[in-house]
Amino acid sequence: MSHAWRPLFVVIGLVALILVVRAIIVPADFQAKNGDYKYQWHRVGNEEDWKNFKVKYQGRDYCKDCHSAQYGQATSSKHALVQCENCHGPAIEHPVNPAKLTIDKSRELCLRCHAKLPYRPAVYAGLPAGPIPLKMQDGEQHNPGIECVTCHDVHRAGFKGGK
Ligand code: HEC
Ligand code: HEC
Ligand code: HEC
Ligand code: HEC
Repeated sequence: MSHAWRPLFVVIGLVALILVVRAIIVPADFQAKNGDYKYQWHRVGNEEDWKNFKVKYQGRDYCKDCHSAQYGQATSSKHALVQCENCHGPAIEHPVNPAKLTIDKSRELCLRCHAKLPYRPAVYAGLPAGPIPLKMQDGEQHNPGIECVTCHDVHRAGFKGGK
């Protein structure tokens, strides 16, 4: 037999080994349920675990009745796209635990989204369905050292004292 066959046997051996190991370590209920091979691969026995998983975010409709002022402002401002809990943290058991949510007045909170990025175009004119336009600020140039909320009204996405 030609020595050229030997590597082939090694490869066949490896593939067989991988198939045996797979059969041992992959749980039997790991399937593509409903035949959707793109998104459905999961362990069927795990579904209950995920149903019982506690969701930490409530969504902003939850805030409406108790904080109607902030709700009214934020949802009709340019911050309408931003969820309350994006800035205030998850409200899973609020107002019981925690009784109050975090109020972060740091420049970092705002610069997380508004920081000037050299590779992000300032104007999207001409682009079809690109990213939403976002007014960026250079944190080192735009009133450094002063909290943004000294001048800006965050829920109105405008200015304090003004509209
Ligand atoms: C059932 C009523 C209720 C709901 C629903 C509720 N809150 Fe509150 N929230 C309160 C109460 C009561 C306080 C404490 C008010 C105080 O002591 O001034 C509070 C405090 C806060 C504070 C701190 C205010 C401060 O001056 O320190 C923030 C921020 C806040 N809530 C945001 C939210 C957000 C965001 C949501 C929705 C995800 C929400 N709340 C849902 C009742 C509620
Ligand atoms: C982009 C970030 C951001 C979003 C979105 C946001 N908040 Fe705030 N919120 C803040 C900041 C920052 C303060 C402190 C404002 C200040 O001191 O001028 C604040 C203050 C508050 C307070 C304390 C009282 C007050 O008005 O200062 C409450 C209550 C509150 N927010 C609730 C909400 C609710 C409800 C929503 C959604 C409808 C919401 N916030 C959306 C950042 C945000
Ligand atoms: C989660 C992302 C996010 C955070 C955090 C955030 N913003 Fe915004 N902000 C936006 C988006 C999106 C818009 C709407 C696009 C626009 O018009 O710039 C916006 C709009 C604004 C506008 C209006 C700009 C205009 O076009 O007139 C101001 C002012 C503003 N934000 C200030 C702040 C301040 C101050 C903070 C911090 C307290 C903050 N933002 C935090 C996403 C964010
Ligand atoms: C001392 C007051 C002051 C502070 C602090 C301040 N700003 Fe401003 N901001 C202004 C003024 C005034 C303008 C309008 C003139 C300009 O564009 O410089 C403005 C404009 C903006 C705009 C564009 C709004 C529009 O209508 O075009 C955004 C977004 C913004 N600031 C975000 C921020 C963020 C984020 C911070 C904190 C990192 C911050 N600002 C800190 C006063 C302030």
